[in-house]
Parts: sequence; C-alpha cells; structure tokens
Amino acid sequence: MKLWGGRFRKEENKLMEDFNSSLPFDKRLYKQDIIGSIAHVEMLHKSGILTEDERSKIIEGLNSILQDIEEGKLLIEGDYEDIHSFMEVNLIKRIGDVGKKMHTSRSRNDQVALDMKLFAKENGLMVSEMISELMNTIEKLANDNIYIMPGYTHLQRAQVVTFKHHMMAYHSMLRRDKKRIDNTVELLDESPLGSCALAGTTYDIDRSFTAEKLGFKKTVDNFMDGVSDRDYLIELLSDFSIIMMHLSRLSEELIIWSSQEFNFIQIDDAYATGSSIMPQKKNPDAAELIRGKTGRVYGALIAMLVTMKGIPLAYNKDMQEDKQQFFDALDTVIACLSIMNEMLKTLKVKEENMRKAVKAGFLNATELADYLVNKGIAFRDAHRIVGEVVILCEDKGLAIEDMSLEDLQSIDTNFEEDVYDFIDYDKVFEKGIKRELL
Ligand code: ARG
Repeated sequence: MKLWGGRFRKEENKLMEDFNSSLPFDKRLYKQDIIGSIAHVEMLHKSGILTEDERSKIIEGLNSILQDIEEGKLLIEGDYEDIHSFMEVNLIKRIGDVGKKMHTSRSRNDQVALDMKLFAKENGLMVSEMISELMNTIEKLANDNIYIMPGYTHLQRAQVVTFKHHMMAYHSMLRRDKKRIDNTVELLDESPLGSCALAGTTYDIDRSFTAEKLGFKKTVDNFMDGVSDRDYLIELLSDFSIIMMHLSRLSEELIIWSSQEFNFIQIDDAYATGSSIMPQKKNPDAAELIRGKTGRVYGALIAMLVTMKGIPLAYNKDMQEDKQQFFDALDTVIACLSIMNEMLKTLKVKEENMRKAVKAGFLNATELADYLVNKGIAFRDAHRIVGEVVILCEDKGLAIEDMSLEDLQSIDTNFEEDVYDFIDYDKVFEKGIKRELL
C-alpha cells in the first residue's frame, strides 16, 4: 500500500507507520483530494500526457470512489499513509494499472497544498457567512432593546449608554472579523498545483488550466513557495483567534449581566444548565464554554507559528501538523458562532433593572460638570464641585437628580432650576451618543 516502496530493503516499522500516518485526520480532505485529482487528470489529457481512454477511466474511478465514500460504502480507514495514498491505492484496485498514471507530474507536496487551500477557502467563506448571520442577530437584538443602561470603564459605572449601543460595539467588531477572513481568502487564492515536489516538472503541463478549473484567481509565482506556504492557515487561525476573543468578551458580559448582582439579562433556559447539588442554580454554561474554548484556538495559532518557524524550504513533514490544529480551531469557531447566535436570539433584556442601575450610579455626574462649565466655570473646578455633590448624595442616599435645588446650591450657587433638564438621562444619552449612532 506504499507509494514509495521501491528503494527500501526493509519493511517500515509498525510504530513508525502509525506515527507517520495522517489518514485518521486528513481523511477530512477526501472531497478536495478527488476534485483536485480530477482537474489534474483533465489537464494531463489536454496536455497530451494521458489518452482520452485513460482520462475517462481514471475520472470514472475517482467519481465512483467519491460516491461510495459519501454513501458510506467505502470507509476511509486502513494502513494507508495518508488520504492521497488511500485514493491512489483504491483507484488502482478499482480500475487497474491505468490508475498508476494519475500521479504523473504531481507530488503529494503540491497535492496536499492544494487540498488544504481548497478546504481553507471553502470553510473560510463559511465562517464569514456565519459571522454575517450573527451580525444580523445582534442588530435585531439591539433594535429590540434600545433601553438606557450604565456604560462601564474599569467595570465601574461610568456614563449612560443604551443596550443597543453596547451591543452594536460587537457588531462593529464582527464586521472587521468578516473583512479579515475575506481578505485572507482573497490572498490565498493562488493554485499551488503543478509546483510538484518543489521544482516543477519536465512535462509541458498547464498550471493555469487546473487553477481556473478549481476556481483559483491565478497560479502561484514560485514552486518552492507553492509547496511550503502555510501562511493562509496561520492567517485564518489568527482571524479565528480574534473572533474568539470578541466572542469571549461578549460571553464574559453575558455571564456578568446574568448574575443576580447585575440582573440585566436572562439567558434562555435552553442555553443554561443547573447544579447537581444546589437546586436554585442556573448557570450560563454556553457563554462560559465559549470563553473557555478561546484558549484552544489561540493554542492552535501559536502551535502553527512555532511549527513553521524553523523549517527550511521546501516541504518538510513537520507541516503535516497543520491539519489537526486547523480542523480543531475551525470546528471550535463554527460551534461557538452558532451557539452564540442561538443564545442571543433568545436573550431577554431587563429594561427596568438597567434603568435602576443607571439611576444609582451617578451616571450624569460628568454632565453635571458640563452644566457648570456652560455657566462659565473651568472644567477642573466643576469636576471638584460635582465630587462634593456626589458625597452629599451618598450621605443622603439620593441620586443627583433627586437632590433639592437648595442642597445643590449649598455646594455651588451656579445651580439653577434648568439643571434637572440638563442631566436627565434620556436627554444626556441623546446628546452624548449622537442621533446617528442611536
Ligand atoms: N500527509 C502529508 C501532509 O499532510 C502529505 C504530504 C506528504 N509528502 C511527502 N513528501 N511525504 O503533509
């Protein structure tokens, strides 16, 4: 079952065989491998390297393998070195010696580079599409809940914002995430097929033909780079890491907001779990898991960067390590994007509790200082005066807007009746976060 037995005097050690095999994980590339092989065979025929009869037998064989795999009649397992060996051996089993011609002017090096690029492109675009869906969900949630809430810095109540404005911050982050993925896909869009092992081939092949057939914008400029480049996986892992960082920050907020201390939101029962001992518990596990899984996506990025950093050109077996890391990170991002989407669709926002928190937080203190500035007081002096107002409010257990005018005037005589309108929360918000950003 080896593609390379000829120059060996001894059998491969069993431990080595298992250690070397990538089939258990690169079987995921079966479709890309077959599609790539079909394009390659078409090109060999067009270039006069395969006859029409050879071309159609090989393509028929490859299509029947594809069909049997998809129908579950052919399992991708056994002592094969990788998905490429599996395909070639199975093709030869089905169509005989003519199958041995498929690998003319091709190496597994450009073959695997092609498979990974096709896989990365397709799945990158799928993630990009999922980001769009999540953006739509966020926009809807935001528009359904325009209520005012405290905005925080240092997790201390700072100024008034709205739930909508808060959520739309994530919309902006996701818009950049989507663009990053689209850019990565655009940059990777060059076909490596025809680079062969590292130095091209003596055959007069047509790389542009396969590139076009497989939907690539162009062919790679350099064969050695063609088989050695895994930048696009690192870029996608970096894009995924940033997406996860955003989802993790959002998760953290959902966790905090659903605590009894905040009580701003209610996560739907369908996305929470209970405790085996404490009957009253409802835990935000989905959000916690997203936050937790972020680490493993970062891990994949770092692993991949470290794998690539010390290997000379061109192909080295180290690069086989790209697959498990990339597949795992991809699956994680996909799972997290979909669970976040569902969780947000069913989220309940507690308007009253957010409004109470706004009132209790002196969130119009900055505007109170602005009021004094409008009366001709320097901002730094106004800042100190309002500080004193806050102390008095705390002593009396009142919000600023609930203080009597006499009390305010006992601290500074510039306060007049119009102050209450100036520091009204709804107006403050509208003035601060301008109409167009609402
Ligand atoms: N399984 C290998 C990989 O994933 C395929 C390429 C093998 N190439 C080679 N020269 N041994 O990288």
